Amino acid sequence: MIDFSEKNITEAVIERFRNTPDPRLKTIVNSLVRHMHAFVRDTELTFDEWRFAVDFLTRTGHMCDGNRQEFILLSDTLGISMLVDAINHRLPAGATETTVLGPFYVENPPEFPLGFDVSRGLKGEKTFVQGTVSSAGGGPLGGAPLSGAVIDIWQSDSDGFYDVQRTDLAEPTLRGRFRADAEGRFHFWSILPQPYPIPHDGPVGQLLEATKRHPWRPAHLHFMISAPGHEMLITHIFVQNDPYLESDAVFGVKKSLIGNYTSEPPGVAPDGTKVDIPWRKLDHPFRLKPVAG
Ligand code: BEZ
Ligand code: FE
Repeated sequence: MIDFSEKNITEAVIERFRNTPDPRLKTIVNSLVRHMHAFVRDTELTFDEWRFAVDFLTRTGHMCDGNRQEFILLSDTLGISMLVDAINHRLPAGATETTVLGPFYVENPPEFPLGFDVSRGLKGEKTFVQGTVSSAGGGPLGGAPLSGAVIDIWQSDSDGFYDVQRTDLAEPTLRGRFRADAEGRFHFWSILPQPYPIPHDGPVGQLLEATKRHPWRPAHLHFMISAPGHEMLITHIFVQNDPYLESDAVFGVKKSLIGNYTSEPPGVAPDGTKVDIPWRKLDHPFRLKPVAG
């Protein structure tokens, strides 16, 4: 077929992919072509706009290196990351909801004994975090504590920076790995997380700026929890009353993930630590989805 027109080019392109052997690839390519062509028709894209888009994506690629993934940031700010997450985490009732991983997770963080202070003396509101890890849903395991569950945590400092964004820290800070005890319980000390802007010095920042959107994320503590026979849980626990809960730049907030970081007077913490200043406490249960089968 020749003589492609505005009317017939979409079907012609789809036809050209007809011999794709992998059925899933064929579905994806066909859908991509249909949606991209519909987008161009819908917006009546001009040549200048097409060239701008090519340049934008080129700059997005050039921004990426081992530490920076501008394409994921773009996906995050367009709500695509959270949509993929939602489609792939249809959870049983009671299971802890998931949210974005973000760019600041470091694999195999140092493992610490329960009760360790991951703030290593950084300034901030002293915070005690405790929780339980159990199996969600019905079935024989429903509600059972997951002893030995591996709990990775990471968070920003009181200025909103992760340790990997700072050059002055000699060791991993405000991150670490803990292991739940025989009853699935864990606890550690930290500082209260603060809101922070996502990296906005690149093309994604320019898009936010041009569309009058802000780059801020509400304060949160990241968790990645794994236990045998269960899906890995990647989530955050947000700080209640944060001004950005309703407008998170990456659409990551869910009501069930807003924690209650209570204000505590000086006294004795649940682990027996004597605290002579006001402090915060978070006590949160985590319920993991059993793997199918
Ligand atoms: C984060 O929470 O660390 C994060 C998530 C998405 C984009 C940027 C940061
Ligand atoms: Fe974060």
